[in-house]
Amino acid sequence: MIVEQSSVFFLETQTTSYVMRVNDFKHLEHVYYGAKIERGPVDSLVYKRNIQQGSAVLYDAERDPAYSLDNVLLEWSGVGCGDYRQTPAEIKLGDGTFRTDFTFDSYRIVKGCVAPETLPAAYDDGDDAETLEITMTDRAGKMTLLMYYTTFYETDVIARRVVLVNDGTDTIVVRRLMSMQLDLENNGDSLVTFDGAWIKETHRHDRRLQYGQYVNSSTTGASSNRHNPGFLLCENETTESHGSVYGFNLVYSGNHYGLAELSPTDLVRVQLGINPFCFEWPLAAGERFETPEAVMTYSNRGFNGMSAHFHDFINRHIVRGDWKGMERPVLINNWESCFFRFTRRKLLRLARQARRLGVEMFVLDDGWFGDRDSDKAGLGDYRINQKKLPRGMRSFAKDIHSLGMKFGLWFEPEMVNPDSDLFRAHPEYAVQTPGRNSLFGRNQLVLDLCNPAVRDYIVENVGRILDDADIDYVKWDMNRHISDAYSPLLDSQGEFYHRYMLGLYDILTRVFRPRPQILFESCSSGGNRFDLGMLCFSPQVWSSDDTDPVERLSIQGGLSYLYPLSAMGAHVSASPNQQTLREAALSTRFNVASFGCLGYELDLKHLTRLERKEVRDQIAFYKAHRRLFQYGRMIRHTAQKDNKVYWQCVNPGATESVAGSFQTMVHAAEGNDVLPLSGLNADSVYRLQTKPQRIFVRRFGSLIKHILPFDANPNGPVLRWLDRLYALTDCVETYEASGKTLMRGVRLNNQFIGTGYTNRIRMLCDFGSNLYLIEQQPGQ
Ligand code: GLA
Repeated sequence: MIVEQSSVFFLETQTTSYVMRVNDFKHLEHVYYGAKIERGPVDSLVYKRNIQQGSAVLYDAERDPAYSLDNVLLEWSGVGCGDYRQTPAEIKLGDGTFRTDFTFDSYRIVKGCVAPETLPAAYDDGDDAETLEITMTDRAGKMTLLMYYTTFYETDVIARRVVLVNDGTDTIVVRRLMSMQLDLENNGDSLVTFDGAWIKETHRHDRRLQYGQYVNSSTTGASSNRHNPGFLLCENETTESHGSVYGFNLVYSGNHYGLAELSPTDLVRVQLGINPFCFEWPLAAGERFETPEAVMTYSNRGFNGMSAHFHDFINRHIVRGDWKGMERPVLINNWESCFFRFTRRKLLRLARQARRLGVEMFVLDDGWFGDRDSDKAGLGDYRINQKKLPRGMRSFAKDIHSLGMKFGLWFEPEMVNPDSDLFRAHPEYAVQTPGRNSLFGRNQLVLDLCNPAVRDYIVENVGRILDDADIDYVKWDMNRHISDAYSPLLDSQGEFYHRYMLGLYDILTRVFRPRPQILFESCSSGGNRFDLGMLCFSPQVWSSDDTDPVERLSIQGGLSYLYPLSAMGAHVSASPNQQTLREAALSTRFNVASFGCLGYELDLKHLTRLERKEVRDQIAFYKAHRRLFQYGRMIRHTAQKDNKVYWQCVNPGATESVAGSFQTMVHAAEGNDVLPLSGLNADSVYRLQTKPQRIFVRRFGSLIKHILPFDANPNGPVLRWLDRLYALTDCVETYEASGKTLMRGVRLNNQFIGTGYTNRIRMLCDFGSNLYLIEQQPGQ
């Protein structure tokens, strides 16, 4: 709901209000963003300025000796008018000057969203959204700034973007244009960002705001694994379930820039938009430039409340097409079991084994095309590798389909190896700076997506294979950062990074819009491009090349602040893990991966008969509760001990829930564990039961010889043989109680501490975990 009353705008969602007003100087002044308030006079909320600050530059000294823009909460700010905080727009005008001052001109309110012309954005296919378009003008500079605010009522999100129009006759140069600016007062705020690198994406980092600027940005050409575009601003005491938190994110997959600035007078300025790094966009007379859409939300119910808004918003207003709201198939991906070395026979054997365990889709990863026997050759080529797939892709896809499985294929279309037919024919398709040496990442160069011929080449070749082989799923990868930002087709190289993204979005639109039945999983060396821009095309993203479950607690846990579980690809892989060489129980590998879109990525022929049984049980359990795992309300619990992580999912209506309890490092003889639960109906009676899981006897190491009638070598063949034949059932606990009682915390059985073992002891050790299913009892 958006209402204007006496030049005050009230933007309302289910639980929040956003208020701004046009002030006497026609600046758009921020008044309030937070928990919902009544519409009415806002004088008590307006940030006051009654006295002139020393050294302040006044906007209009005669009219108001206390009005200095440096001390006003502004929805937008210019240059050269007395506001010394970061400007959202740096524009070089036709006469070479920089001063800009946008003031209010008019507004309109429209139902639904106003879609950008060039970029993906949130949409509304119901009756949830409303948009306020405010027209601001800089008359001296002959420019119009259209500011868009779209409220998504039910999910408590407000989307913002701007469009700059050059109304003059001279070309102007845009050097910086943010999607949004938000000025707030400081409430002892902390900034939370999600940072990392390859195989350690989206780890949460908190820091108290200090005077000055903190920038959360990417310059790699993608949204990056270094700093996810999404970030949070919270009051210092905020926990998972209590406190005030603002969430911000950007619907964009390129270089992003997020700012949290604490001014000398304790005002906080937040900005989000395209990174000004190497950005320079000439705007000729009459032309417009539109920014990507930024989204923001507020919750006074802690981080979980904020995440719930973003999760629902993404599931309803970002993800689109046939797979929106649909359960995702359990897949097997051949990468970690084969890398580049596979034959048709080997693949079919893996697929058959997977099918027997309940897997629904086979994904053929890298290495099926060109001369791709390593990462040194083949990218850019689309001819099927005859050595590996002598009967071609169509016939292989048919074999997979005839097993009753869906078939998925990996592509890396944005890249080229110099050792490829494409590069030999069209070296000019690769991004390189003239007169400088080529820089390689994973032996590859980036293709120039600013070039329409390159885009056509990708669209035609990928499309041909998708149609010919009847592909059900695509993993679209992108495995290096961009270095040289150069295209011979551009007059202004400052346009490169953004034009690359526009080119990518054009390709994705042309490949996937005509084929909505294809499930698209985006990937960039794992989670190097996990952002809302990609989620407008791909309903899910490969979260990380790191499949170690303990690392995944941080990676998936970090992602869960901003993105729903339905968007996260999560696989069970071999142990020791290929990225960390850490050994973790098969149960834990599944228990972590089940909080997401489940897949397996290991050589199944190396599993013992008992391990295969365990995998079959895991998949059956996941399928039975798949909706809960992918679309349930995800809750992170604040753990009382630093070696524990607790996650929970609750279905709508709270008739069913699943909780995960994960231990990182074991602490000897520590106190009992308490399983935290929330989100249940207080008065309903529930039955809680541990998901049964096997313990393989090798986990007991040399202790096992003490219960055998002979002195067995713990590393010898007898115990290895025993391990293949015999497994124990891990402790299963069952409780029946009201939701109210369960939400006081479930006191769990003791952990193993070396003094004995029965099936009432929880065998956690290092990296142990359990899932608990909580079901409302019939008649409740
Ligand atoms: C990237 C991906 C992996 C795999 C390889 C194949 O690293 O993230 O999952 O597809 O490429 O080369």
